[in-house]
Amino acid sequence: SKIILAYSGGLDTTIAIHWLKNKFNADVITVTVDVGQEDDFGEIASRAESLGVLKHYTIDAKKEFAEEPVASAIMMNALYEDEYPLGTALARPLIAEKAVEVARREGGDAVAHGATSKGNDQIRFEETIKALSPDLLIIAPARIWGMDRKSELEYAERHGIPIPKIHGRFSIDDNLWTRSIEGPEVEDAWAEPPEDAFKWTVNPAKVGEDLRLEVDFEGGVPVAVNGERMELPQLISLMNKLVGMHGFGRVDHVENRAVGFKSREVYEAPAALALIRAHKDLEKLVYTPSELRFKRLVDREWADLVYRGLWHEPLRAELDGLARSMNRWVTGSVKLVVRGGLTVAGRSSPYSGYDEELAGYVRGWYPSDDEARGFIEMSTLHSLTAHRSRWGVDVS
Ligand code: ARG
Ligand code: SIN
Repeated sequence: SKIILAYSGGLDTTIAIHWLKNKFNADVITVTVDVGQEDDFGEIASRAESLGVLKHYTIDAKKEFAEEPVASAIMMNALYEDEYPLGTALARPLIAEKAVEVARREGGDAVAHGATSKGNDQIRFEETIKALSPDLLIIAPARIWGMDRKSELEYAERHGIPIPKIHGRFSIDDNLWTRSIEGPEVEDAWAEPPEDAFKWTVNPAKVGEDLRLEVDFEGGVPVAVNGERMELPQLISLMNKLVGMHGFGRVDHVENRAVGFKSREVYEAPAALALIRAHKDLEKLVYTPSELRFKRLVDREWADLVYRGLWHEPLRAELDGLARSMNRWVTGSVKLVVRGGLTVAGRSSPYSGYDEELAGYVRGWYPSDDEARGFIEMSTLHSLTAHRSRWGVDVS
């Protein structure tokens, strides 16, 4: 039989190559999907090949990742529980999709992934595999073998498996949208993460000067930085670098996992947090109050579905359609100032609903005294009627 393994190149999935071959007496085909993680794909390919895989695929999906799930996440201001930009959650369905494509091409019988039974990732991988190809067997070695990190290292030693360079003391899952940092040192929700957990962001206390940026959006998607047009993956990388260097982009929160418990999570996502802030500001400029209120409900629902691994829940695509339509008007520019924190310092749009003539105090339009009285009378009538019927008039 043939097993297609979603291969990150890390310790778990490296051991999985050996383990799957032995346990199932199967051919293993590895698939590494490049979604912008900082890895050496050549090295990953040779590691897979040295372990005797039948074939190894490196699939460059950076553009697809940026222009599909990440662009949607921007249009949706997607922050799970108001903080986490969902990088890992957005990438898993795409990685699973690529593994399924390889399974079809190669006549594979099963798809394997490295996620554990305590995480959200297993849901995200398996929901996609089941949606696209319900006939494929799913194998999650890390849920079966019952090895902790120490036993995994012993297993590797015993079988002469080359150990991948580990990211220091932390377990990292990164892509162009988010760097997720896990490890024993961040599991204590009270303990401050050590400074060397961070790689994309400078300590906010150490930033000496302001960064001023102008980001242009078209149809809800960023298209240029400081007047220079670029493709979305390049724009995101550039923003990660510039904003991260100026000390903005860390997230430290306790999040409710889909699997029933809370976990302390630390992330770096300078571009994601800056672009979502800018996008939200522009939406506020163009939407009517009703649109804005409703859109925030849609945003939250979408982020929850994606976090919980329900990428193929039909409502997710319906909400995407609505967001795409509403984002037709989210075109314009936002000025950002970054220095440890981030502030929006200006915004403009051809579809702006802001009218200086209406809003200004110095000159321009003023409702008459009668108009103002009439408006106040009628707009407060519901509340005042209820107030009087419950409590009367009380001047004490
Ligand atoms: N808690 C985050 C999520 O559910 C990050 C998961 C990181 N995953 C990983 N395999 N290291 O999306
Ligand atoms: C895992 O268990 O595979 C990583 C953590 C997560 O999925 O949330």
